Amino acid sequence: MTSPIYQISNLKQIYGERTVLDIDRLDIAPGEILGLVGPSGAGKSTLLRLLNFLESPTTGQIAFQNQPPNGSVPIAVRRQVTTVFQRPVLLRASVRANVAYGLGLRGERASSRVDEMLARVGLDKLANAPATKLSGGEMQRVALARALVVEPKVLLLDEPSANLDPYNVGLIEEIVAQNNRERGTTVVVVTHNVFQAKRLAQRVGLMLGGRLIEIAETKQFFDSPTDPRTAAFVRGEMVY
Ligand SMILES: Nc1ncnc2c1ncn2[C@@H]1O[C@H](COP(=O)(O)OP(=O)(O)OP(=O)(O)O)[C@@H](O)[C@H]1O
Ligand SMILES: [Mg+2]
Repeated sequence: MTSPIYQISNLKQIYGERTVLDIDRLDIAPGEILGLVGPSGAGKSTLLRLLNFLESPTTGQIAFQNQPPNGSVPIAVRRQVTTVFQRPVLLRASVRANVAYGLGLRGERASSRVDEMLARVGLDKLANAPATKLSGGEMQRVALARALVVEPKVLLLDEPSANLDPYNVGLIEEIVAQNNRERGTTVVVVTHNVFQAKRLAQRVGLMLGGRLIEIAETKQFFDSPTDPRTAAFVRGEMVY
């Protein structure tokens, strides 16, 4: 692969006595969409927090681009990574203000970009509505628009369409895929929905008990997984 955008080695995240993440090695390629699946508690959100520099690993390394691993990552570099969290928190302000927020932090105004992004996620008519009064699907789209409007290099998605209807799921997937195609944004998408991973990702990894059990090209992951636990997971059986 071309030089990875993230290089993870011997990574452990330990809370108290519990090792919740234990990944020997994981490279993420620039411009790829990587899907991460696995049951609740597998460590998926924890990994995303580390990729977003919200926490530092207990041991091991995460190297991002040309940054020295585990050094303090400069703010300008951190800002190249945005996240749509599992439970997005919106400001008590209009939809437009929420989407413009990250641009403002970066000292940019570019209101045309905000309007264009609102149109892209189908929220142009709700631009002046209070964001906290929106439906779940609309809030998810505000969170996605807010993450994308700053044109990040890396987009981290934590269950971006959980609890949404098929229409909104399709919409969110299309926006993410289009952004990846057109801008080459690197995407890491965590999802409980194996079909979403299959539709969206070029590579898929299964996490279980903090470990990366298997990672492979999407077709191989689903059609001929090498680990029996992956096979069971893609068949929809519970894996413990
Ligand atoms: N700050 C923390 N302190 C202590 N334990 C934590 C902390 N954050 C996460 N954990 C624990 O780490 C484990 C992994 O959590 P994580 O949120 O990464 O799982 P997940 O794979 O995202 O699960 P889900 O699919 O339910 O969102 C869980 O058992 C959780 O309770
Ligand atoms: Mg989670």
